[in-house]
Amino acid sequence: MRELMQALREASVRAILEAEDAERLENLRVKYLGKKGELTAILRQMGKLSAEERPAMGQLANQLRAEIESAIDKRKTELTAIMMEKKLEAETLDVTLPGIEPRLGHKHPMYNVLDQIKDIFIGMGFEIVDGPEVELADYNFTKLNIDEGHPSREWTDTFYFTEDSQILLRTQTSPMQIHAMETRPLPIRIIAPGRVYRKDEVDATHSPMFHQIEGMVIDKGVTMADLKATLNLVVEKIYGKGTVTRFRPHHFPFTEPSCELDIQCHKCGGKGCPTCKGEGWIEVLGAGMVHPKVLSGCGIDPDVYSGWAFGMGLERLAMGEYKITDLRLIFENDVRFLEQF
Ligand code: DAH
Repeated sequence: MRELMQALREASVRAILEAEDAERLENLRVKYLGKKGELTAILRQMGKLSAEERPAMGQLANQLRAEIESAIDKRKTELTAIMMEKKLEAETLDVTLPGIEPRLGHKHPMYNVLDQIKDIFIGMGFEIVDGPEVELADYNFTKLNIDEGHPSREWTDTFYFTEDSQILLRTQTSPMQIHAMETRPLPIRIIAPGRVYRKDEVDATHSPMFHQIEGMVIDKGVTMADLKATLNLVVEKIYGKGTVTRFRPHHFPFTEPSCELDIQCHKCGGKGCPTCKGEGWIEVLGAGMVHPKVLSGCGIDPDVYSGWAFGMGLERLAMGEYKITDLRLIFENDVRFLEQF
C-alpha cells in the first residue's frame, strides 16, 4: 500500500504540474481526489490492514491528499499568471506604430470665395437668404420688368418645365429681389447666393449651371452714392485696398439707372495682360437702382422708398482669385485639382 501511495504521489504531482489549462487541471483533481478517484480507491483497501498498521497508513494518506491539493493550488496560480500574460500580450498596443491617416477634405475653392463675400456683407448688416431654383416666369422675368418678347425668355436660352413657359429653372438670382420685397419687412438688406441655369454649351467659360450672388438694399433715401460706396468697399475687401473701380453705364430691365462695375486689372495695373485679356479692366458685376416699376409691383411706394441691387457671377470671381483658366475644372471635382487649394 505504501508503494501504491508513493506511485500515486509521483504520477499525480508530475501530471498536475504539467497541466496545460484550468480544465485539464480540474479533470486531474477528479481523477486523483474525487469520490471515484485513485486515492479513494487506495483508501478502500485500508480494511485489509491490521489495526496497528491502519493509523500510520491513514496519516500517510492524509499527507498525500494534502500534497496533491497543494500541487493543484500551485498549478492553478501558475496557470492564472500564464493566462494573464497571454492576454496582456494579445492586447498590447504599440503606440510607436505609424497610424492610419484619415483623408481629410476641405472647402471647395468657389465656396472659399463665397464665404469671404458672405462675411463681408454680414459685417455690413446684410442677411443671407435662400430661394427656389425652380421658379415661376413671373418671378424670373415679369416682375423684374422683363417683358414677354425679351430674348432671355426664349426656349433656346432658358430651361422650361412646361409648354406654356410658366415654370423654369431660374436664369438669374434676381427673382430673389422679388421674393424679398414680397415677404420681408422694410428696410431690406440681403444677399442671395445660389445656382442659376442657362442653355449654354459647356466650354472653358460657359456652363449650363453656374452660381450668382444677388444683393439688394431697400430703404428710405437710398441713392446711387450708397451703391457705389458699398460696392467699392466690397471690392477693396476682396481685391485689396486701393483697387481702382469703374462704374460703366449699362442696361438691365429691372434697374434704372443700371451699370456694370469693372475693376482695374490687379495683375497688370491696367496696361493690359492675359488676365484682363488686354483690356486693362475686369468686369465684376451688374448693378443699378431698383426700377420704380419693380418696387411698385411688389407693393413698395417708389416715392417713399428707393434701393439698389447687384448681381455677380461667382465662378468668374473664383477663377480670377485662384488663377483658374477653365470653368469646367470648378465643376468636375477632380481631386487632383481640388487638392491644390
Ligand atoms: N441678373 C443679372 C444677370 O444675370 C445681373 C444683375 C444686374 C443683377 C443688375 C442685379 C442688377 O441685381 O441690379 O446678368
